[in-house]
Amino acid sequence: MASDSDVTIPPKIKAWVYAERGSPVDVLKLVSDVGVPEVKEDQVLVKVVAAALNPVDFKRALGFFKDIDSPLPIVPGYDVAGVVVKVGDQVKKFKVGDEVYGDINEKALDHPKQHGTLAEYTAVEERLLALKPKNLSFVEAASLPLAIETAYEGLERAGFSPGKSILVLGGAGGVGSLVIQLAKEVFGASRVAATSSTGKLDLLKSLGADLAIDYTKESFEDLPEKFDVVYDTVGQSERAVRAVKEGGSVVTIAGAATPPAVLFILTSTGSTLEKLNPFLESQKIKPLIDPKGTFPFPQVPEAFSYLQTGRVIGKIVIHPIP
Ligand SMILES: NC(=O)c1ccc[n+]([C@@H]2O[C@H](COP(=O)([O-])OP(=O)(O)OC[C@H]3O[C@@H](n4cnc5c(N)ncnc54)[C@H](OP(=O)(O)O)[C@@H]3O)[C@@H](O)[C@H]2O)c1
Repeated sequence: MASDSDVTIPPKIKAWVYAERGSPVDVLKLVSDVGVPEVKEDQVLVKVVAAALNPVDFKRALGFFKDIDSPLPIVPGYDVAGVVVKVGDQVKKFKVGDEVYGDINEKALDHPKQHGTLAEYTAVEERLLALKPKNLSFVEAASLPLAIETAYEGLERAGFSPGKSILVLGGAGGVGSLVIQLAKEVFGASRVAATSSTGKLDLLKSLGADLAIDYTKESFEDLPEKFDVVYDTVGQSERAVRAVKEGGSVVTIAGAATPPAVLFILTSTGSTLEKLNPFLESQKIKPLIDPKGTFPFPQVPEAFSYLQTGRVIGKIVIHPIP
C-alpha cells in the first residue's frame, strides 16, 4: 500500500495525450479525464510543477522507435520537477512534500513510460530522482535531468579526465551547453572548443568554451588543432572522427556512429543528479533555458513546433502545469 498525507489527489487529471503517431502538433490532445497513474512499491507520485521537452519526445511521437515503445495512448515527457505527494511501500529516499527532479525513463528508447511528465501528476521510481537543488526554480530544475545526465554519461564513456581537451559539436543545444560546462567545471578540461552558428558564439564563450567555432564559416575537421575527445550532439560522427587526436575518443548521441565513434543511449539515474547537485548549488553549472523557452501547459504543441526547428538555445520548459 502506498502512503500519502493530507494531500488531496484528484481522481482525474489533465494531460497531453496522443492516440496515434505523428508530429506532436498534429496528434497531441489536451485531455481532462486521465487517470492518476498507479504508484508501484519503488515509486513516488509527483505533482508536476514543470516539465522539459527533449527531441526524443517528438522522435517518439513520430514513431522512430515504435517497435520498442509502450502501447498507445501515450502521455509524452521525460523530464520533471515537482513535489512528492505519495510514496510506495519500499521507498526510502523520499517523503511526501520533498521537492524532486529527474528523467522518469530509465531506458530512453526501451518502453519509456506510457504516462509521462506532460500531466498534472506522474509516477516514477525513486532511484531516478534526486532532491531539487534549493537555489534552482522548478523551471530550472526541470530543464536539466535528461540533458545533464546525457552530458555526464558521454564524458564518462569517453574517459574524460583533468587536463584533456574536448570539441563539443552543437554547443548551444540542450545537451551541448551542459557538456561544455561539465567538461570545464566538473571534469577539469584543459581546453574546450565548441561549434554553433554565428549568433551563438558569444554564448559558447559564456558557457566556458575557450574556442567558439562558427560552423557556417569553418569546417571543424579541417582545423590544425585536434582534440583528446570529440562529443557529437549533432549527428556528425563521420566528420568528428577527423577532429580527434590519435588514440582519442569520439562519442555521439545522434545518428549512426562512424568508427571509432561510439553511439550511446542514456541510462537515467538520480545518482548522477545527486553527484552534480553541489555544482548546481555553487552555480558552477547553470541551467540554460531558451529566452523564448518557457511555455504554459496549454501551449505544449507550440513548444514542440519551436523545439522541432532545431534552433533552440538550451532547453524548453513547460510551466505552469496546468
Ligand atoms: N543518445 C542519447 O541518449 C541522447 C540523449 C539526449 C539527446 N539525444 C539526441 O541528441 C541530439 C541533440 O539533443 P539536444 O537536446 O541537445 O538538441 P537541441 O537542444 O534541440 O539542439 C538544438 C541546438 O543544436 C544546434 N545545432 C543544430 N545544427 C547544428 C550544427 N550543424 N552544428 C552545431 N550546432 C548545431 C543549434 O544551434 P544553431 O542554431 O547554432 O545551429 C541549436 O542551438 C538530438 O538528436 C537528440 O535526440 C540523444
